[in-house]
Amino acid sequence: MRRSTRLLILALVLLGTGLAGLLLVGTIAPAVRSRGGSAEDRGRWIFQTSTDPDTGIPIPASGGMMMHMACADCHGLNGRGLRTPMFVSPDIRYRNLTDPAGMVEPDGSRGHTYTDELIKRAITQGIDAEGQPLAWPMPRWQMTEQQLNDLLAYLKTLP
Ligand code: HEC
Repeated sequence: MRRSTRLLILALVLLGTGLAGLLLVGTIAPAVRSRGGSAEDRGRWIFQTSTDPDTGIPIPASGGMMMHMACADCHGLNGRGLRTPMFVSPDIRYRNLTDPAGMVEPDGSRGHTYTDELIKRAITQGIDAEGQPLAWPMPRWQMTEQQLNDLLAYLKTLP
């Protein structure tokens, strides 16, 4: 390849990266600004995107569907769970998980009652309130204590 051609290609690649960068900043920055600082707002951000509210970096997870999905993608925007051909997910509103009579499972039966610590364990280790491993579609999330607390603050607001 001639040297001038190589330079031209390099210039085009750099231009492309620059444009992509501008596009990214243009689409992400407004969202970043509108996130707000309350625990509920940060928790909603995590619930809907599974990224960190400060950095936008995806929260690492293992298991799940092998692609980056947020809590809302699998548990519904309202948190009440979904029925899909791939999996059935439970109602994870705080009021359901911590129901003193036991959480209502997708099949209508009652399970155990979650505490805050047990919810955090389910999210990070994939273990349910009874100590049993959760089914594989539920990812195991490497969340910080702050991310977990924000998320719980948001789950508490779900009516
Ligand atoms: C890829 C789909 C998927 C994603 C993403 C996902 N979940 Fe789940 N989750 C599930 C499924 C399916 C179950 C039920 C597993 C079972 O019944 O063993 C579950 C179970 C749970 C449970 C345990 C409830 C119970 O039945 O004992 C909690 C709590 C939970 N998820 C919270 C979350 C939170 C918070 C997020 C986001 C950080 C999240 N999930 C993301 C699919 C998902």
